[in-house]
Amino acid sequence: MCGIVGYVGRQKAVTILIEGLKRLEYRGYDSAGLAVLQNDRIELAKKTGRVAVLAKEAQKHRFTGTTGISHTRWATHGGVTDANAHPHLSSDDKFALVHNGVIENYSAIKKFLTGQGYTFRSETDTEVLCNLIAYHYAKEPAAPGESRFLDSVRKALRHVEGTYGIAVICTEAPGELVAARKGSPLILGVGDNEFIIASDVAALISHTQNVVYLKDGEVVHVTSKEFFISTLDQEDVSPVVDRVTWDIEAAELNGHAHFMEKEIFEQPAALENSMRGRFSEDGSTAKFGGLNLGPVEFRQIDRFVFLGCGTAWHACLVAEHLIERFARIPVEADYASEFRYRNAPLSGNPLYFVFSQSGETIDTLGAMREAKRKGYKVLAVNNTVGSSIAREADGGIYQHVGPEIGVASTKAFTSQLLIGAMLALHVARMRDMSFADGVEYVNALKGAPALVRRMLEQAPRIREIAQRYAHHTDFLFLGRLSLFPIALEGALKLKEISYIHAEGYPAAEMKHGPIALISEKCPSVFFAPKGEIFNKLLSSIQEVKARRGPAIVITTEGCELPPGLADEIITIPTATRPCCRLWRPSPFSSSATTSPAPANAMWTSPAIWQNP
Ligand code: M6R
Repeated sequence: MCGIVGYVGRQKAVTILIEGLKRLEYRGYDSAGLAVLQNDRIELAKKTGRVAVLAKEAQKHRFTGTTGISHTRWATHGGVTDANAHPHLSSDDKFALVHNGVIENYSAIKKFLTGQGYTFRSETDTEVLCNLIAYHYAKEPAAPGESRFLDSVRKALRHVEGTYGIAVICTEAPGELVAARKGSPLILGVGDNEFIIASDVAALISHTQNVVYLKDGEVVHVTSKEFFISTLDQEDVSPVVDRVTWDIEAAELNGHAHFMEKEIFEQPAALENSMRGRFSEDGSTAKFGGLNLGPVEFRQIDRFVFLGCGTAWHACLVAEHLIERFARIPVEADYASEFRYRNAPLSGNPLYFVFSQSGETIDTLGAMREAKRKGYKVLAVNNTVGSSIAREADGGIYQHVGPEIGVASTKAFTSQLLIGAMLALHVARMRDMSFADGVEYVNALKGAPALVRRMLEQAPRIREIAQRYAHHTDFLFLGRLSLFPIALEGALKLKEISYIHAEGYPAAEMKHGPIALISEKCPSVFFAPKGEIFNKLLSSIQEVKARRGPAIVITTEGCELPPGLADEIITIPTATRPCCRLWRPSPFSSSATTSPAPANAMWTSPAIWQNP
């Protein structure tokens, strides 16, 4: 969750750096700092606490330089102290460095450098890297025609095991900055005789929309006039300058209290954007331009494997449920972080999909590379054009929901649910789903944004309920079938955002142990829409009430619960015309009419994944 902003140009660096850090505040952090090159030395300010505290501290220094780096830190290595905040200086004070990621072999490097007389002022792995750069700078001349500064950064990074996004400045290279990445995103904003390096587009979008997404293993050397990208092995890289399609408006709060709230309210529009142009003309199926997979290939798939982390994994679980239910193809949904290391036996003809909003999650990227290494095609459901996952996938489906700035995934999650449902439809219609059921399914999906809008109108009442329960320290979230992952997601959100302990379970599993937790102190949130297992969920609610547990029940409009059963009821709007065929035990009952897959309207568009 750390953030990086660096600047080289004509303006006072401190202004750009503080503004950039403020735009990264949503990511959460415990300290912030900046370093500016001026008068042949590095001026440093760093403080625990908010960026506002740093901004105040910065006023005490007379920062006038036009080259600088800055950072918001979320402590992973060493406690939350001013000394551990970034930037870090080398012991000779020649270099300052900010770093996102983890240097796994820092201990061995530190031991070596200590033997060479280097000293350390913090407990961080970052300071070790800074001194390693200083070591190479002091000991070895640059290759002919090379910048000594750039050369020493490259040499140091060749020894590093782990992940990094870094930005470095050097007293002997005024007006220059070197940045590099491996497993941690970095973007170069290209302005008019000025450049901004940042870990997130939000930090630079108010200055320029022209960006270069650095790739793993690349190093950029920036001066106020130009930039030059190469690999650690000194191979030149031709830069691709992309244009960010969203503007500064997207990075503004527009009257909302915070980005999470803004993005919750953007969900209807996000869903509309995710489905726009993706239904067949006959309105019976979904079509995707970027799968890069012919219908014959698609028919041969005997299994889907969906991989993601956190919220994205929950979306994978819902997609698993929908595809198995409607398309009758087995699906495995796995944590990307586990898949990449557990060497799962792979057989048959599976199609891999990774789900990732950012497209930069290192475990998801690692899982994707592992499947590709074994010779499988991997597609992506992704929201970030130009991200590492978007670049490396064999094709995929862009979410088109605009930037998700809030660290808690909201509109990206609901968009992933929608895309999972569309994928299920797409596959089901290539198999056994009838034309009529397909049309009904499409109409239900098209109605979703309006239903979400109606749901959001209930925000004030839901806020009141939340306030009534805010003092509790433990919650259970319970659902069944496709709503079990939604229960997991509810629990994750409560933990992540409110720092309240919560667990998600399939409701029927409660009696196999977790029921011991139920008391008046532990409220349970039930996802209990009307449908085939509604009565079973009522029994689970009874079990909670029998133990005096408060029950907050989320059910469907018009659905009646036995009086007094729920402490709170939140209703989800439903479409006025019944779309509950989707909730039938099987949409493929003997009465269902089947029609052959249509002439594959979805394959007529050669739209390319890389070009959304
Ligand atoms: O960008 P990604 O979708 O790959 O992120 C994966 C998870 O880190 C992410 O979904 C995380 O769980 C959310 N921030 C939770 O709200």
